[in-house]
Amino acid sequence: MRSSGSHQQLLNFGRGRPPLNWLLLCFISFLALIVILGSSSSSTLNSIGSSSPVADIYKNYRRLKEQATNDFLEIRSLSSGLSRSRELELCGKERENYVPCYNVSASVLAGFNDGEEFGRHCDVSRVGYRCLVRPPKDYKIPLRWPSGRDVIWSGNVKITKDQFLASGSLTKRLMLLEENQIAFHSEDGMNIDGVKDYSRQIAEMIGLGSDSDFVQAGVRTVLDIGCGFGSFGAHLLSLNVMTVCTAAYEVFGSQVQLALERGLPAFIGNFNSRQLPFPPLSFDMVHCAQCGIDWDSKGGVFLVEVDRLLKPGGFFVLTSPTSKLLGGSLGAKKGSMLTPVEEFSEKICWSLLAQQDETFVWQKTSEVHCYTSRKQGGLPPLCKEDYDAQAYYQPLQSCISGTTSNRWVSMQNRSSGLQLSSTELAVHGVHPEDFLEDTQIWRSALRNYWSLLTPLIFSDHPKRPGDEDPLPPFNMIRNVMDMNAHYGGLNAAFMEAEKSAWVMNVVPIKTTNTLPLILDQGFAGVLHDWM
Ligand SMILES: *[C@@H]1O[C@H](CO)[C@@H](O)[C@H](O)[C@H]1NC(C)=O
Ligand SMILES: *[C@@H]1O[C@H](CO)[C@@H](O)[C@H](O)[C@H]1NC(C)=O
Repeated sequence: MRSSGSHQQLLNFGRGRPPLNWLLLCFISFLALIVILGSSSSSTLNSIGSSSPVADIYKNYRRLKEQATNDFLEIRSLSSGLSRSRELELCGKERENYVPCYNVSASVLAGFNDGEEFGRHCDVSRVGYRCLVRPPKDYKIPLRWPSGRDVIWSGNVKITKDQFLASGSLTKRLMLLEENQIAFHSEDGMNIDGVKDYSRQIAEMIGLGSDSDFVQAGVRTVLDIGCGFGSFGAHLLSLNVMTVCTAAYEVFGSQVQLALERGLPAFIGNFNSRQLPFPPLSFDMVHCAQCGIDWDSKGGVFLVEVDRLLKPGGFFVLTSPTSKLLGGSLGAKKGSMLTPVEEFSEKICWSLLAQQDETFVWQKTSEVHCYTSRKQGGLPPLCKEDYDAQAYYQPLQSCISGTTSNRWVSMQNRSSGLQLSSTELAVHGVHPEDFLEDTQIWRSALRNYWSLLTPLIFSDHPKRPGDEDPLPPFNMIRNVMDMNAHYGGLNAAFMEAEKSAWVMNVVPIKTTNTLPLILDQGFAGVLHDWM
């Protein structure tokens, strides 16, 4: 046996105590519940303009504490098998891969084809009955953060080792530690997947000394299209760059499932026919390493979508075998040295900053007048002014958006602090006092949540409420979904308190669309219809 002592401990942790799995899962749901309750209380506060929000939080807090005790007792009796099924039954095995709005066979039956069957179709995949989706047969509690970022249980993901090893991804070299574990990366200096070199190379290509300068240079958010095993994002996250993975729906070897299993931000997204669920001007960098998108097809409409998502002055990083960029259908001129993608990028005011090996870096213009001074023929037009206000998931468009937006501010011209300036808040129509009040509410709410949850979060590293969190952070909460994120105040509170957890900020479509404000703070977020 070559595993170390602590390793042995980790192995034993998931074994022989199935009820613990249930308890932990339930408590994670419980945290989500708190977030919902908290959010709704704060929005009620906003609408009635109550004068003492903090007192209200304390009241909620007391109620939550009682609720927690009740829930705990109930969960314990559930898990010990005393009262198995209450209202909801476990789903059958056929629904183990169930993802709402994604069911390829149902989409095919409904007549979608040409790649659209892999897209999001909520109407056709709705199922009439409710049940609890089962975890995989050999499911084990993920290792704690941050070790769980680099080592996962292979039974938790639908992927075989052969699939891993056969993968053509950039980050394919990985280490198999134990029979039932997969390791991606080791923090102690080993660069097993080359991702650190790659990240440094990109930093140098945009003129930085090293990748630790990304944040300082204004690169705070990255959209990683087709993230493979998520290692690039894991590395950037460790440099405080919020990197969100998006990949198509896949039943086996799902990139999104892998990233989430590692505790990294990810969501299923597919640009075959519809836009991604973000407003224009959202990301500082969009990255694609052999992400499987045929960039020069459909008249460049996918590049236009990337342009829509990029902030002015933002970067598009494409790593792809050069041969694939040559000779596509975008119509490179005969005798021209430019590849179709390069030629199209000029038409949309991107400049090629650098090319090394198989990696290209373009920068989107930060000057609106660039678009009016374009001279070649066949240019994508600018979108109509009211276009940006539309909800997301619109059909892909071939017009340039965002140019008339108040949010058209060069990425390099942003204020460098973590807090938005009052000018930046004004762009979103938010009063600094409202914003500050929201910040304070969530700061105190997080303190309360944390002390409430402390006995659970740190159950195997006991600490008293109020003590500093033990180092390295052993808390079991790697991420939080804020189901009604409003201004992103809970996220800001987590960052301010230096908790090692990130927040997925969800803005329900029925509320004011604050997603642009959330993204402009450098947070992860999506617009979503919970119904
Ligand atoms: C997908 O749809 C098909 C056909 O409607 C159905 O038989 C199947 O159970 C669905 N799969 C899941 C995982 O819901
Ligand atoms: C950025 O700031 C500089 C100096 O204040 C200004 O001259 C320039 O126009 C700004 N660029 C954009 C795109 O806002």
